[in-house]
Amino acid sequence: MPKEYVIADFGCGEGRLADSVKQKVHSLDLVAVNDKIIACDMAHTPLLTNGINAVVFCLSLMGTNLVDYILEANRVLKMDGILKIAEISSRFDDVNEFINLLMSYGFKNTWTDIDHKYFYFMDFKKVKNVDAKSKKLPPISLKPCMYKRDNYKILNVNKQIKELNELIE
Ligand SMILES: C[S@@+](CC[C@H](N)C(=O)[O-])C[C@H]1O[C@@H](n2cnc3c(N)ncnc32)[C@H](O)[C@@H]1O
Repeated sequence: MPKEYVIADFGCGEGRLADSVKQKVHSLDLVAVNDKIIACDMAHTPLLTNGINAVVFCLSLMGTNLVDYILEANRVLKMDGILKIAEISSRFDDVNEFINLLMSYGFKNTWTDIDHKYFYFMDFKKVKNVDAKSKKLPPISLKPCMYKRDNYKILNVNKQIKELNELIE
């Protein structure tokens, strides 16, 4: 990813993505654990419209209003901007249906890695401006995250950062 790109890390946790890539990263989370993080609901961020090259949701599509997060990602992304999602595989009833639904929200799937047992990774390109007033937006939902002992074993931040870096480079 070009170093001039501007990234928004939606639900950034401790904001470690920002420390591990050369691009400018806006780190956003409900809870700001340090002063580099912007405390906000990612359904309504303070980011400007059409100003971001890549939005990242890494294990952060929590809550029942996923649609609001996806619409906010669409608002802040430039046209052709990249949406990256990394999520726990067990949260998807049908990952292909999820991928197809995102088309209604203006995102065309460009890459997937859904062969892992625990995690799915997917990239999309913004191809259309879509907002809450757009017609026929289908609901999107994921199953609640049921943390199992195996999830804990592998869900360490360094591994996630390493995988994200590989995806971004
Ligand atoms: C499992 S953690 C993942 C953190 C980080 N992305 C990572 O990979 O290490 C999920 C994060 O999403 C944040 N989050 C959940 N819902 C949010 C919302 N509506 N707005 C902002 N952050 C949210 C939580 O506060 C939490 O820090």
